[in-house]
Amino acid sequence: MSSATDPVIAAPVLSAFNIVKTYGNTHALKGVNFNIHRGKVTTLFGENGAGKSTLMKILSGVTTPTSGEIELDGHRIAFSSTVDARNHGISIIHQELSLAPNLSVRDNIFLGRELHHASGVDFAEEARQTRALMTELEEDIEPMTLVEDLRLGQQQIVEIARALSVDARILIMDEPTSALSATEVEVLFKVIRDLTSRGVSIVYISHHLEEALQITDYAVVLRDGAITATAEAKNIDLQWIVQNMVGDHFDRGSPPTGYEFGEIALSIDDVCVEDTTKSGNLVVDHLSLDVRAGEIVCIYGLMGAGRTELLESIAGRVPMASGRVLLENQPLAGLSIAGRIAKGLVLVPEDRQRDGLVQTMSVGENLSLASIGAFIRRVLTSRPREQALVDASIRNVHIKTAGGSAPIGSLSGGNQQKVVIGKMLATNPRVILLDEPSRGIDVGAKAEVFRLLGEKAAQGLAVIYSTSEVQECLSIAHRIVVMRRGRISAEFGPDVLKEDIMAASGEAVVG
Ligand SMILES: Nc1ncnc2c1ncn2[C@@H]1O[C@H](COP(=O)(O)OP(=O)(O)OP(=O)(O)O)[C@@H](O)[C@H]1O
Ligand SMILES: [Mg+2]
Repeated sequence: MSSATDPVIAAPVLSAFNIVKTYGNTHALKGVNFNIHRGKVTTLFGENGAGKSTLMKILSGVTTPTSGEIELDGHRIAFSSTVDARNHGISIIHQELSLAPNLSVRDNIFLGRELHHASGVDFAEEARQTRALMTELEEDIEPMTLVEDLRLGQQQIVEIARALSVDARILIMDEPTSALSATEVEVLFKVIRDLTSRGVSIVYISHHLEEALQITDYAVVLRDGAITATAEAKNIDLQWIVQNMVGDHFDRGSPPTGYEFGEIALSIDDVCVEDTTKSGNLVVDHLSLDVRAGEIVCIYGLMGAGRTELLESIAGRVPMASGRVLLENQPLAGLSIAGRIAKGLVLVPEDRQRDGLVQTMSVGENLSLASIGAFIRRVLTSRPREQALVDASIRNVHIKTAGGSAPIGSLSGGNQQKVVIGKMLATNPRVILLDEPSRGIDVGAKAEVFRLLGEKAAQGLAVIYSTSEVQECLSIAHRIVVMRRGRISAEFGPDVLKEDIMAASGEAVVG
């Protein structure tokens, strides 16, 4: 069944012509032609700030183009709103979660398009459909659970369920898997295959390039607001994507060398953390780990292995059931989060929206947030000093922004993540803990973050980097610690094979 030769199937369901979008002086899209292939997965690749989300927001009625045209089934169309686009069968899963945390899963899914029967809203039917969606997504989530009580990955599942509930003909998925576990991704891919086999057209966006390639039929690369390459997936590989995204001379990075590690900077001693959902259960189970000044330790593990709980307990965000942590030989017990930051221990949290950024503040305000304590202590709380720090941070982590006073919400997703990292590094920490920091950042930006951490490590910073991507461990770690069910299941040097790391995590090794 070759679709390319069949003109009926090959005709795109939606075509965008010469789309331009400008925000002030920012040219987000510079004349883009884009096709959505009927019943296929069209994947949009591109660096942070390339314009992917902007293009998708235009195709789903969130925003209007500055100029350009859209054709749906060969007919000119302009969407006046998301509701209008939805009525034309277009649904979108947003990169930044857009759920109401204090509402139930059911209410989030049906918000604004409640189901009715004679005597009002048909809550029972809504709950039934919610349950059916959760079954389809193989997720054990009760309809009446509050979204704020779900972990990040589950919230992402709810976001997906809401988009699925619309029964769209065109489903746009902007980074749908950034917080999902490997199993959840597999389920999502099964759902996608099922949808395309029923003729639904998918647009997919992801910075997990290898993962995305598995599901892609057509690949499109967007660079700096313009399409630079398109191809059928069967004719390309990872190398092709990376090359077209960031250019020829790309290096995945390697751990910094040429210096000796210093004293033990952080000593984690027999730490236990209890599961908040099941009392008596330990999510961190008698774990011990020492990290030296200058050393970069990766904690690799599947979602749910206890990595987040470990890091959050060290940072003082969740209580330890037992055990202790020493920062340069000083016990941390009793210190608040801010107290720990003042002593030189910082955490880049998993959920940037909830913890990392204040969405209503500017890039600059966000960058200096973590350092405010230090500024006040120096009494020299001067704007120039603060501005200097903001400018340096923007340069250091290469944040693509109109400037320090731009609102955080105007930044592309990956650039928001870089603000979080920049903010924490601005405090000049002794120890930095990073929890899945590469979520949503492109391969190039990832390499920049690695280089930056490497540089700081060579100056004595101790780094704990938690990730569920094996390649990241190999790109940055002096030592790789595998965590499984709250314990360390293996430890490796930098020359280990990918397969060995994965096997120790309890993951099935494919291929
Ligand atoms: N509301 C807005 N106001 C001002 N500038 C914006 C706005 N939305 C997007 N931009 C700018 O448009 C450009 C494209 O952003 P976009 O979010 O489309 O990137 P992206 O390709 O989705 O990146 P990422 O991979 O990081 O999600 C960026 O320079 C961004 O700062
Ligand atoms: Mg985006």
